[in-house]
Amino acid sequence: MFEKRASRGAVAAAEPLAAAVGAKILDDGGNAIDAAVAVGFALAVTYPAAGNLGGGGFLVGSIGRGAGQPQQVALDFREKAPAAATSDMYVRAAAAGVKNASLVGHLASGVPGSVSGLLTAQKEWGSLPRKKVIEPALALARDGFEMTKRTHRMLAGAKSRMLRFEATGEVFYPGGDAVPAGENFVQTDLSTTLETIIEKGIPGFYDGEVADHLVVEMKRGGGIISAQDLLDYRSVNRKPIRFSTGKGNGISMPPPSSGGICLLQMYRMLSHFALDRSDAESPELYHLLAEVMRRSFADRNQYLGDPDFVDCQMERLEKHARLDKRASSINPRKASSSSQFLEDLTPPKESEQTTHYSVVDQQGNGVAVTTTLNGSFGSRVLVPGAGFLLNNEMDDFTAHPGKPNLFGLIQGSANAVAPGKRPLSSMSPTVWLDKSGDVRAVLGTPGGPTIITNVLQVLLGLNRLGLSPEISVTSPKIHHQCLPDSLTLERAIPEKTEKTLQTFGHRTGRRGSIGDFQLLCRTQKRGWVGVSDSRGGGGVTYTK
Ligand code: GLY
Repeated sequence: MFEKRASRGAVAAAEPLAAAVGAKILDDGGNAIDAAVAVGFALAVTYPAAGNLGGGGFLVGSIGRGAGQPQQVALDFREKAPAAATSDMYVRAAAAGVKNASLVGHLASGVPGSVSGLLTAQKEWGSLPRKKVIEPALALARDGFEMTKRTHRMLAGAKSRMLRFEATGEVFYPGGDAVPAGENFVQTDLSTTLETIIEKGIPGFYDGEVADHLVVEMKRGGGIISAQDLLDYRSVNRKPIRFSTGKGNGISMPPPSSGGICLLQMYRMLSHFALDRSDAESPELYHLLAEVMRRSFADRNQYLGDPDFVDCQMERLEKHARLDKRASSINPRKASSSSQFLEDLTPPKESEQTTHYSVVDQQGNGVAVTTTLNGSFGSRVLVPGAGFLLNNEMDDFTAHPGKPNLFGLIQGSANAVAPGKRPLSSMSPTVWLDKSGDVRAVLGTPGGPTIITNVLQVLLGLNRLGLSPEISVTSPKIHHQCLPDSLTLERAIPEKTEKTLQTFGHRTGRRGSIGDFQLLCRTQKRGWVGVSDSRGGGGVTYTK
């Protein structure tokens, strides 16, 4: 969906009601953080496949303008493994005959981070009272909203797994079928949880009644998240990754996200190649992109994990000389083999039902938030009495070393399960700053590992190929993640292009669509332009 320009502020989100909530907060005098927090809570109500209270995420922002304290921030509110988690818990569960324990049911959940993250951002950098930014979500849960066709379709598709859990069935399948599109959808227990959070703040979720509901459900269903795990949860302020885009800088998320470092690496390798508009959608450019993706994912899969637990060797991974050498090994017409970049050939390991939203405000602040339950509707377990779904983020760990995860990613020991550890993520909320440091674009998308490669391609479209925001988002995308050694092409890429890529030596595969991009970009002629990906069902709302 393309929208007209924004004069003061704008919000792009995967669900239009949530985008409207954010824009209203901006209209009411809130800053980009206030709006981002309001959108996060609203998505937890209106987009239950991925919006969440029971998941986690990352926030990257260029903020503080207007308050005279410009700063760049990266807030990590990724879920953590419970204290009782062990590195072989899923191997043992499988041996005991419990299938997919990292994906479905109570053992699949990490300790949720979203409420801590949103309220920490609000307290640190927001300007409005907590009540003001959560109230719109509370109203949507209490009074209901029109069930969207998209969510109805997703619920219908997930029915059999969802109905394994009684409380999930009661909320989303009253009478046995998915809530129909167009029907007013009320979530009473969720509204009570939101009221408690308004009243008590972070302890309203991690202590007291809501926490009790969660722990009782864990015990009932054989899960391991304890009351102490919830009390111990903290979001972490990290130093954003900064990378040169030629025309300015990108800022993105550091580990436990792999997004920022991969973007830095791929941009550095691409700096050795002249690119312009005529290269867009050419097999030569797709090949070049595949080669830099391959090289960067080789590092991602081998070295990255939670920086509080493993040495991610960031200095080495950022080193220009090493990246320049890797770039020089790219043959412009011949595919490399992934094995030559893998010192440890144990293949290193994600869900696509994440969601992203982008916010800019009238002071020139830009905030990018990607948040997730991991798989669509997470673990499918809804906390009875509290009304929210829990994540299945534990599958983002190397649950079964050497075996592919939900996204076909195969990962190494740096990302093994350990108590209190955060699983490696691909979520890449990113802000592009121009040479004077002003926000030029706010970018992000869901898509598991394709998040990183999609953000690369949209950013490249904007700042190296000179494409419009609309074309940067809609142009067909590719994805390579080193292992498996094959190049994925979006359906819209012509067969002729695929054949040429095969003659270069790529093994190719197809998929319908990649991502659900939410872009805000400042253009010289049109001011702020928002693009909510036509691949999804979202929207852009501008301030008045
Ligand atoms: N669960 C998807 C990601 O964190 O990348």
